[in-house]
Formats: sequence, structure tokens, C-alpha cells
Amino acid sequence: MTAAVVKPPGMLTESEAAEELARLGPAIAHHDDLYYNRSAPEISDADYDDLRRRNALIEARFPTLARSDSPSRRLGAPVGGGFRKVRHAQAMLSLDNAFAHADVVEFVARVRRFLGLAETEPVALVAEPKIDGLSASLRYQAGRLVLGATRGDGREGEDITANLRTLDDVPEVLAGTRFPDVIEIRGEVYMTKVDFAALNDARVGAGESPFANPRNAAAGSLRQLDPQITATRPLHFFAYAWGEVGAPGNTFSLGENLWGARARLGSLGFTLNEPAILSADLDEILAYYDDIAARRAQFPFDLDGVVYKVDRLDWQQRLGAVSRSPRWAIAHKFPAEQAKTVLKAITVQVGRTGALTPVAQLEPVTVGGVVVQRATLHNEDEIARKDIHPGDLVVVQRAGDVIPQVVSVDPDQRRADAKPFRFPDRCPVCDSLAIREVGETVRRCTGGLICEAQAVERLRHFVSRDAFDIEGLGEKQIAAFWADGLVRSPADLFRLAARAEDIAAREGWGETSVANLLAAIAERRTIPLDRFVYALGIRQVGQTTARLLARNYLSLKALRAALESAADETGEAYQALVGIDGIGPKVAADLAGFFAEPHNLSVLDDLADPDYGVRVEDFTAPENASPVAGKTVVFTGTLAATSRAEAKAQALGLGAKVAGSVSARTDYLVAGAEAGSKLAKARAAGVTVLTEDEWRNLIGIGS
Ligand code: IVH
Repeated sequence: MTAAVVKPPGMLTESEAAEELARLGPAIAHHDDLYYNRSAPEISDADYDDLRRRNALIEARFPTLARSDSPSRRLGAPVGGGFRKVRHAQAMLSLDNAFAHADVVEFVARVRRFLGLAETEPVALVAEPKIDGLSASLRYQAGRLVLGATRGDGREGEDITANLRTLDDVPEVLAGTRFPDVIEIRGEVYMTKVDFAALNDARVGAGESPFANPRNAAAGSLRQLDPQITATRPLHFFAYAWGEVGAPGNTFSLGENLWGARARLGSLGFTLNEPAILSADLDEILAYYDDIAARRAQFPFDLDGVVYKVDRLDWQQRLGAVSRSPRWAIAHKFPAEQAKTVLKAITVQVGRTGALTPVAQLEPVTVGGVVVQRATLHNEDEIARKDIHPGDLVVVQRAGDVIPQVVSVDPDQRRADAKPFRFPDRCPVCDSLAIREVGETVRRCTGGLICEAQAVERLRHFVSRDAFDIEGLGEKQIAAFWADGLVRSPADLFRLAARAEDIAAREGWGETSVANLLAAIAERRTIPLDRFVYALGIRQVGQTTARLLARNYLSLKALRAALESAADETGEAYQALVGIDGIGPKVAADLAGFFAEPHNLSVLDDLADPDYGVRVEDFTAPENASPVAGKTVVFTGTLAATSRAEAKAQALGLGAKVAGSVSARTDYLVAGAEAGSKLAKARAAGVTVLTEDEWRNLIGIGS
């Protein structure tokens, strides 16, 4: 780069910055169009990334100049360096897990209840092996591969098209002559066990570090910035699902059943997970599972379970998804793998809510293909119950992606001088008193904001993937920034642009990494309300609750006002809060508690400061707004056409709010058969009462 021509963003005057932003916006839009819509980019990815990074850096310096048409406000925005981010046309979901046969029985029962099926109605399932790799999405337009992406957080992944193109199992052009104008194929990228061993041998021979397992090897190979390297790695792809399917250009249809759809994916040129079965007989399904589990080692690739999916696609549609998992599928995992090792010591970690968690420090041991050195011990009662002493020989287990656990100890192997572990009653980080409230299993540090561990953990949560999703800020960096006073509260992150030189002067940071970090922060300045609420790290408020709150209060302003008022448990705001279906008194207490703390409110004020502030987007109901979007609905009595669960899910899907009890805020009470006190209350309060049919007509699914 010719430094004389391009001024660093930090040296631009305000008017120069404004001029440059006005030029960069349309230029980036032009290149996006060439890339996404015409597949004919004019500049290299690196040059493109430079444009975006510069735009973000200038915005970081002059936030008030950020234009409404800024690329950082558009979707598909890449974070500086690495791969371009892409938004999935349809979310890539993950699966709920079943471990015991009984969990599978319950899964089918749940499907029946949701759909309101009679006991006698068969529920056919497709069962397939579950491959332990990483998922990818392939988008075909007019039968040609135009985009290949990683799953990412499910909504947004990374553009790894060039790398996926190098796989033999990924057709460049769909087979046959019939396909929709757009189709996204989802599947798993994996490496066989034999190829994995050979790759590791070669790496060790070349003085490189080996991969821990085939899954990591596949992930590492796929995430190469240079597709030439990916091309040398033996990767494979199995297709098991699809995302967006556009207009059926020439009479292509996936049909009405998964079993048939699978075969059609095969005829488009994809390899499928085999052996698969279709059966409505649960005994047969479970026998299939037992058979695959018994033959697991003989498969050429790693399996971690089998997947069951409801065969009827119309039922899949009705079942929909909750949070990130479809209600129509479940992964039946193989039993956890176990190994024995020595417990070297027990350390105590402090989480963002002050909870003290004991952690087992282990002699490294391989469990199910992964080296384990640490495992959770849950809490002090668990240590006592399992009679765990430091120095013991312990059994460690790993199931899927869950954190390894210590299952049991072998007391016969214990040394005579072994002493039981004494759980500290002071915070190991800030030395404040750590107390255990009556009825609680968890001991908590009372240090609050003065406790570094809590502060750092809160910041970590704030920038984590499902919250602000700021890349390049891991535990180490945050701890170091905190220790130096560079970042003490969330708002400080958005002031970092002014400290670029201080950061660059630190060990491990160069100009590029600082630029990338600042660009990543600048790109995340605008955030949807639900993510923002989740980022606050309020106790018990996970993504689902955060989404419920966003949907119910719509704007940060309204949410804050309501939750500040909710401290009064006799007041209307509190009643409205616990009236939200899915929010009970315990969560309500934590929410009210959070918004009653002056220091939490000052964090919110700080973040909202327009000079370096965060823009929290109001919750918007799903597109093609329905007449019930934004309305509060209560269901009561027995419904005939659907189960209560399905009716609620439909209402939520249309942007309505579902409450558990009738209040002055209720817009509709939908009364099924044998409605009782809620109906009486609604009538008394003058709430509109609908029959089930009237409701179904209103939402446009009546007969
Ligand atoms: S179906 C919406 N089928 O397992 C459901 N997933 O733990 C899409 N996986 O994210 C998933 N083999 O990466 C499905 N036969 C199979 C699978 C499979 C492996 C992966 C997939 C998914 C993860 C969930």
C-alpha cells in the first residue's frame, strides 16, 4: 500500500472522513452486487476486506458520521480479515439430544401431543447415522453452486465456497435436469479415520502438530484461507437436510416425505448418510440404534449417535423449531466414553454471576478422541457426595460436546495421607466472603463489581457469539485489557478506537490485529434487542428468555421502564412480567433485581451515550405482518384442531405475545372447550373472546 496516498483513519479530519464514507458505501455495495448476485467479482477478497475494514475504522472514529446506507448496517458483513460473513437464508439448526431409550419414547410422545395425534396414528421416522464432522450449507442457483458456508451461529456463517468446491462429494452442477431455481443443501463435512491417521503421520513427520481427532482435522482443513491446501485434504460430504428451496423451476419437488426427499437429494448428485431406515415401529427404530452402536467402530468415519426425523414434511412444518432445535428431529447419542486418570488438584473458578465452581485439574488423558485435562465438579455437594479427594484416581467421561465430568473415584487407590477438599468460604479471586444461601447448591462471591473474575466473565459473555459476537476478544485479551484498566465496563469496548495505539503497543498485538478488532467492534455497534438483553448477562436470562422479553416489550426503552417498575411486586408492571408465558417468579425476581441496581443502569446509560453508543434495534415482528402481530393472546380450555402447544407456537410465529393469564393487556382470549375461570375473567375485563375457529380464521388457517 502506498502510505502517502491513504491517510490512516486516525488522521482524517471530519470532513475528509465524511467524504470517504460517502465514497466507500456505494463502492462496497457495487462489489457486493458483483459478488453475490452476478458471481463476477472485480477485486480480490483481500482488497474487498480492506475496503470494509477502512469503512468500519472510519466509522469507529466518527460514529456520528455512519451513514444509514453504511455497509456495516447491511447483512452479510464480514469481520476484518478471514472469511466473508454470510447470512443463511434459513437458519441452520442443531439438534436436541436423547441419551436413553426412554428419551426417544418421550420424543415421539411429544410429537404426538404437539400434533394432537391419536395413540393409534403411526408416526413414521427416518433414522440415519449421525456423523461427527461439521455442518455446511451449499447454495445452488439454476443448478450451479454459488455459495458454500459454515454453520457459524446458525444465522450467519462464513463464506468458504472456494474450499467446499474442492470436495469431490460437492457437485459443481446438480445432476439431472430438474431442480428448483434455488436450493440449499445442508450436510456434514468429515474425514475418514484412515485419512485422519495418514494426515497426522505426515504432519508429525513434517514437524507439525497433529490434530486431536478427525472432526478437528476436517474443521482445520476446511477453514484454510488458501483453498489449495483444502484441496490436498481428503474431505467428504454427506447431505442430510435442506434450507431454502425456491420456486420449483421445472416441476422439481422434494415431495411430501423425508424418505422420498432423501432419494431426490441423492439423484441431484449428493451422497447420503447410510444405512438409513424408515419405520413407524419404535422397537425397530431402537433396534437400529443398538445395531449401529454395536458396529460403530467398524464404520470408516466417527459416529456419535443416530438421528431420528419425522418423515412427513407437513408435520415437520407444523412442528417447527424451538430455540435452535427442530421439534421434529432428535439425536440419539451413543453412551459417553470414559477413561481413568489422576486428579492432580481442585481449583475454584468464579463465573459472571459470582458462582464458585470447582474444577478438576487432571493428568491429561484421551477420552473419545479428545485430550482432557480439566473437568467440572459442579459444586461442593457433588464433591462430598462422590467423596472426591485431590490425588484420587478418577473416572472421567465425555458425552458429545458437553464439558467433561468426573463420574466417580476409586477409593481403594487413595493414598493414606489424602485429605478431603475444603471448599473455600472466600472468593479465590477477590477474597470477598463467598456465601451459600439457604436452599442453594451454589456458593457465590459477594464482591460484585470489585471482583475481577466476575467483571471479566461478564465482559466475556457480553462479546460472546450469541451476544455482541465480537471476534478477536478472547478470555486472555479481556483479562489483560481489564487488568490495565483499558476495558472495565461494556461501554469501554466502544471507546477502544481512541486507544488503538495503546493496544498496538501491547505484546501480541500488531497494527493489523488492532485494526481487525476495531473493525469487528464497529460492525457490531447495531444490535437486535434480544441479543442486547442476552448480552447483559442477567442471571437465568438465556437466549430464549431474552427473545421473549424483546417480543413483549419491543424496545429497549419500554423494556427498561417496565423492568425498573417491576421491583414492586404488587404493581402492574410486575404482574405483566409474570403474565408472560415462560417467565416465572424466579426469573422475574432476577430481572427486577438487575434493573434495581444503580450500577447496572449506569452501564445501560453509558452504552446508550450517542457519542460512542450502541444502537439497539427495536424488535420487529416477522415479515408480512399478521393481524395478530404484537397482540397479546391467552389460550384456555381444550382446543380441537391443534394442541395448545402448537397453537401457542403458531401465535408466536406470527409475532403475537402469548400470556399465561388474563389481564387488562390481553387482546384476545382463545377459549376452547371447558374453559373455566380465565374465560370468566376475560368477560369481566371486557377482553375479546374468540372461539378456536374464530382464532384460526383470524390467523388465516381456518377451514
Ligand atoms: S439433521 C435441522 N442428520 O449433527 C436438523 N444432522 O448435533 C439438521 N449431523 O448440526 C440436522 N449427521 O451438523 C442431521 N444424519 C444427520 C446428521 C446430522 C450429523 C450433525 C449436524 C447437526 C448436528 C447436531
